[in-house]
Order: sequence, then C-alpha cells, then structure tokens
Amino acid sequence: MMQKSALNVSKIREDFPILRRKINGNKALIYLDNAATTQKPHSVINAISDYYMNYNSNIHRAVHQLAEEATVAYEMTREKIAKFINARSPNEIIFTRNATEAINLVSYSWARRNIGKGDVIVITEIEHHSNIVPWQILGDEKAAKLEYLRVDDRGYLSFQDYERYLQSNKVKLVSVSQMSNVLGTIIPIEQMIKMAHDKGIQVLIDGAQSVPHMPVNVQKMDCDFMAFSAHKMLGPTGVGVLYVKEEILEKMSPFIGGGDMIKEVHKDRTVYNDLPYKFEAGTPNIADVIGFGAAIDYLQAIGMNAVREHEIEMTKYAIKSLERVKGVTIYGPSNENHRGAVISFNIGDIHPHDLATLMNDQGIAIRSGHHCAQVLMDRLDLSATSRASFYIYNTKQEIDMFIDALERARKVFRI
Ligand SMILES: Cc1ncc(COP(=O)(O)O)c(C=O)c1O
Repeated sequence: MMQKSALNVSKIREDFPILRRKINGNKALIYLDNAATTQKPHSVINAISDYYMNYNSNIHRAVHQLAEEATVAYEMTREKIAKFINARSPNEIIFTRNATEAINLVSYSWARRNIGKGDVIVITEIEHHSNIVPWQILGDEKAAKLEYLRVDDRGYLSFQDYERYLQSNKVKLVSVSQMSNVLGTIIPIEQMIKMAHDKGIQVLIDGAQSVPHMPVNVQKMDCDFMAFSAHKMLGPTGVGVLYVKEEILEKMSPFIGGGDMIKEVHKDRTVYNDLPYKFEAGTPNIADVIGFGAAIDYLQAIGMNAVREHEIEMTKYAIKSLERVKGVTIYGPSNENHRGAVISFNIGDIHPHDLATLMNDQGIAIRSGHHCAQVLMDRLDLSATSRASFYIYNTKQEIDMFIDALERARKVFRI
C-alpha cells in the first residue's frame, strides 16, 4: 500500500517504465540514486521519439515545414524553462550539454574578461568538482586566487569567513551550490547574493541539485548566473541550462565559435547572432531539448512545492529509520527543512562500495564513493560515503525495504 503523500506517488510511478524493471533475477528495482540522475517518464521518452519519427530536422535554418516544427518545439522548451525558474526573458536561457558546461561557459566567456591577477573567486567546501576545477584552471591562467568558505560537519557555511572575504575588496565572483549533492545542505543563497551584490560582486549559483527539487525563482534570489542539468530533473542526458541576466549576457563574448552563433561571416570579421543564439554554436541537441520540455511540463503539472513537500517527508522518514540502524553515521543537517532528499551515511567500517554491491544484490541502487566532492570528503576526513537520494516516485515502503537490506548487510559484516 502506498503512503499518503503530497504527491500521488502510485499514479506517478505508472509513468516511469523503468520502475517495472527487475534486478538480479526477480528483485524489484528500488532506485535511490536520483542525485546522480533521475528516471524518465513516458512523456519525455515519447517526446524524443516523436521528434525523430515525425519532424526530425535541423533548426533555425531551413524554411521547410519539418524545420519550422523542430524550431518551434526547441524554442518552446526555452520558454518553458524561463517560466519554470522565473527568468525575465527566454533570451536569458542558454542550452549547454550539462551543468558542468554551463559553469565552464561562465568561466570562459565572462570570468576570463572580468577576473585578473590577484582577484579572488569565492566558492565553498561543499562544491561538486564541476564548480571547483573550472575556477582552478582560470586561477592558474590569470593568477587569480580561489578561496573556499569553510563548512561545519553538517555542511553549514561560515558567514564570518564570507564577510571577511567580501570586505577584502578583491572578490570578483562568488560561485556556490544551492544544495550539496553529498550532505543535502541547503545554502542560504539569497542572503549570500545580497551580501555580494552590496559589494558589486556577481554570483553564480550551481542549481544542479536544487532546481530539480524545490521552487527556484531567479528574479527573487537575484543571482547573476545559474547552471543546472536536465537529466537530474526527469529530462534526458546531454542538455544543460545556463541562466544569465540579460544585461550581463549582452556584454559576454562567445564561448564556442561556428554556425548558428553568427549573423554574418566575412574573411576578416564576424557579426555575432542575437541573444541567446550567440552562445549556441553548431547544431544543438534538438531531440533532448524537446524531451526536456516534456520533463518541465511534467514537473509543472505536479508543482514544485508538492515535490519539495514529498521530499521533506521522505527525508524525515529515511533519517528516522536510518538512525535506528546500529553503527550508522548520517552526514548533513538533521533538520529535514535545511536539506534536500540526499542522505550520505556510513555503517561501521563497511566500505561504501561493498555496501552498494550488497544493496544491488537486493535490487537497490544507491551510490558509493566521493560523489565528485573530494574537497568536502577531505574536510570531513572521509574517503567515501554511501548515498541514498530520493525523487517524486520513491515511497516510504521503498525506504523500509532499503533499511531491511541495510540490516541484512550489517549482519553479513557482523557490525
Ligand atoms: C551540485 C552539482 N553540481 C554540478 C553537477 C554536475 O552536473 P553534470 O554532470 O550534469 O554536469 C552535479 C552532478 O552531480 C552536482 O550534483
């Protein structure tokens, strides 16, 4: 029997064909690796195959009917995304391959012009590698400095450090994740953005874990840049989004040069295309952008407040249940209102990879490792954790089965 929830989970589950999969013979799949990527509903899969079967064509170029239909569908997704995050205009939405490429776009097209020798970029110890490595590369190239805001054991930030860095008058960019993909900690970014803006500093938000799981309003938070990935919010792989305030985007130089990002090309000069096309060189991932549009429709129909409510309920239940497992250490905030539905934990000295393998034997997909956050792992003095992460189709019954499986694993390892 399904639990009472902010969402009609049993109905939602019918929309996801993969949830009928059996693992290891006859074990029902319990998919708890949603922070890595989410499953896709029929509507997303169908939108992609509909494009290939009925109106496959390149966009923006030809005048024939297929091209027109494909262009409309592609641009419609841009409009849907703009509405979804409350951007002022679809021109502020740039399609990339993923969140990682979106962050790199900012680093190449904005930061290389605006950050120089001795300048400081502020990030935090919770960041995913994709919000660390681009800044290290830039720092090396420009002799700029990367400073990490420290976090406590639960992933809460030190605002004292932040204040101190901002006072130095050297900070040119603050780039922070709204939600940790390891600890689940939700960062008070509105306050951070306000503090940075008071000093005239621009802020990039890594929304890879927040945009799929809670209402996000870029105008309200007032960020300058935001990056996220379609595949973590029911959409296909190969599509990411970079949101940039239009007045900033207007001054940015192109990222990649080639077709579609130009108006005119002559032997000695090029006139770039209007926004946002100036930043989308070459044939884009048309099919998957269209699939992403269907994912946005799906989430809009459910409502992001209901998604967040469901996940709070799941997280609360999972933490309570996990706390009863002997030898368990749970990382991240204990208050479910301060965190997303991603729970990192360890049991005694069982290696997370061994635990994940035992879980897989029982049909349960969890993640193990450093979760692309080795700076955080070092800060917590850990080499790896196990991680369970939830989405709209997960149930309390699945959490119960996950806990039973953990208990069995604990016994195997005699913890
Ligand atoms: C917080 C965070 N930022 C960025 C990324 C990178 O996303 P992608 O691999 O889709 O570029 C991830 C992916 O796990 C993430 O969790």
